[in-house]
Amino acid sequence: MSLWRKICRVKRKVNVLPIKSLTFIVVLLTVISSTVFLSQMGVFTHFLEKDYYTEFSYPLEGDLQPLVKELILGKKPLIKPINVFNYTYLKSCMDKCSSNSSPKLLFVVKSAIQHFEQRQAIRQTWGNQLHFLGVGIQSVFLLGTGSNPELQIKVDDEDMLHGDIVQADFHDDYRNNTLKTISGFKWAVEHCPTVRFVVFSDDDMYISTKNLLRFIRDPSNYPPQESQPLLVRDPEHRDRSLKQEAGSAIEEVEDDVGNLNEESKLYAGYVFHSPPQRHTSSKWYVSLTEYPYHLWPPYVTAGAYVVSRAALLDLYYGSYYTKYFHFDDIFLALVALKMNIEPVHCSEFYFWKKKYSMLGYRDVIASHGYGNPDELRTVWNEQKSAGHA
Ligand SMILES: *[C@@H]1O[C@H](CO)[C@@H](O)[C@H](O)[C@H]1NC(C)=O
Ligand SMILES: *[C@@H]1O[C@H](CO)[C@@H](O)[C@H](O)[C@H]1NC(C)=O
Repeated sequence: MSLWRKICRVKRKVNVLPIKSLTFIVVLLTVISSTVFLSQMGVFTHFLEKDYYTEFSYPLEGDLQPLVKELILGKKPLIKPINVFNYTYLKSCMDKCSSNSSPKLLFVVKSAIQHFEQRQAIRQTWGNQLHFLGVGIQSVFLLGTGSNPELQIKVDDEDMLHGDIVQADFHDDYRNNTLKTISGFKWAVEHCPTVRFVVFSDDDMYISTKNLLRFIRDPSNYPPQESQPLLVRDPEHRDRSLKQEAGSAIEEVEDDVGNLNEESKLYAGYVFHSPPQRHTSSKWYVSLTEYPYHLWPPYVTAGAYVVSRAALLDLYYGSYYTKYFHFDDIFLALVALKMNIEPVHCSEFYFWKKKYSMLGYRDVIASHGYGNPDELRTVWNEQKSAGHA
């Protein structure tokens, strides 16, 4: 006989009802509160999820690739697109890619209207094409619209000065990130036909252009196996050799017909295979109606990723036939899945802030957590001097 029963027995003699009902109430409350807790954590929702591997289907069904091919060729497919980016560009940097050298690498930075300082820091660091003279690099910043006319005037001035703002007339809000991303894809497709690679990034990232070019050269082998000796050279010598390295990096990008030719569909960054968030308090909560499966398709985190021209075209026109989804990284993953583009994983794209050290950043391609403009400048300058940026 258990101790508990013994106690009950003894107590029962004294006062039967209260102890029974008290136990009942305690049990009931425990059950209710844990049910509420588990339900908020989305545990029950998980039971109702469909199996991603066997049941996956997402509109539009069918083979989209022939339709997308027609769109790329400028034809009108028989099946009408279900998701067209309709917004007007208020600022569209018309000549960004046609003027001077036609760039080979383009940075498209998702920015928020009020982040003037962050944009300035990016212009002075990794977004500055002058640091890679001869490589042909350009950067633009993607914005939506806000409700503050004063901020808009500042944005107008900024664009007059720098000519690098691409602004479309949807409301600027993180929940509209997919619209912002599509606005960038559309812009790059239409205005930068010579660009071989486009890097999409947030405005709080550290990026090493040099490492990015090294990565593009051979994405499946990064960082390259033979570790480069870290020589401390005199600054002049270093400067000269950096220019040479930059030159040779893009030459190899252009010449490389091995791993990456014109048709290569590169879509690379930090790749996740993870389940949707079902706890209702999460910023990333998603309901079963929106997405019923127990896993996301493999997706590249949106902080920074690179796409080749061929992948850019497929993802952009593929978006015409993919039902809108409000997380931009998931939306692209859905399109990629339909277009049969497999995301390439590289752990040197840090979606969190990698703890800084001069040598620790030698192979870093991108790191999140640089919303502080001064910190970005400091870190980038140091990495640049060390020959890693
Ligand atoms: C495009 O915009 C028009 C109105 O301007 C709207 O009726 C239509 O539904 C939009 N198309 C798509 C596919 O979003
Ligand atoms: C997204 O943009 C559209 C168009 O400007 C707007 O109607 C909508 O409210 C925006 N959504 C959010 C969550 O801000």
